[in-house]
Amino acid sequence: MGKILMITATGGTNHELAKKFADMSVELGHDADVVDLSEIDFPMFTMARSKELDVVPGMAELKQKMGESESWMIIAPEYNGTMPPTLNNAVAWLSTEWNDFRALFNRRKVGLATHSGGGGAHVIMAMRQMFSFLGCIVIGRSCIANKNKEANPETIEDMLKQLLD
Ligand SMILES: Cc1cc2nc3c(=O)[nH]c(=O)nc-3n(C[C@H](O)[C@H](O)[C@H](O)COP(=O)(O)O)c2cc1C
Repeated sequence: MGKILMITATGGTNHELAKKFADMSVELGHDADVVDLSEIDFPMFTMARSKELDVVPGMAELKQKMGESESWMIIAPEYNGTMPPTLNNAVAWLSTEWNDFRALFNRRKVGLATHSGGGGAHVIMAMRQMFSFLGCIVIGRSCIANKNKEANPETIEDMLKQLLD
């Protein structure tokens, strides 16, 4: 049995998509959890704030959940051809181990999914670039949905098998 964490950047259609991935993971016999970055609501990362704040509410819990999971699904809508600020901001806070900013990310298996207003290909590219840079092993297959196109259950199942087998 594997352990996977679904990290959704927003609380609407992407949270729903995260739940679909979690439900399928459980059907496949794995342990799955969903975290919603819009619910954690981190302060905007700045260098000054990162020096001032000893404790960022919600950070320790998120780091623990991420650290305990062998793989992650990152699920985020496209905003202006890239990723939404909740995701970018959270990753900034999560990569502040200055001696090893990849500590949490390196070698982690990651899958990418989106429910966007239009195509969603740009946010997949943006996330692929960032998570690959951080050392994650980002699988090639991704899941794109929008209001006219439901997420394909076969894609969800295959991605989870790649991430957990
Ligand atoms: C500021 C902003 C920018 C957006 N830019 C794009 C975009 O570039 N491409 C796109 O396909 N959808 C875009 N959208 C639409 C969202 O991707 C879409 O509404 C998505 O389903 C929202 O996810 P949610 O329901 O989980 O909040 C944008 C929405 C917002 C609020």
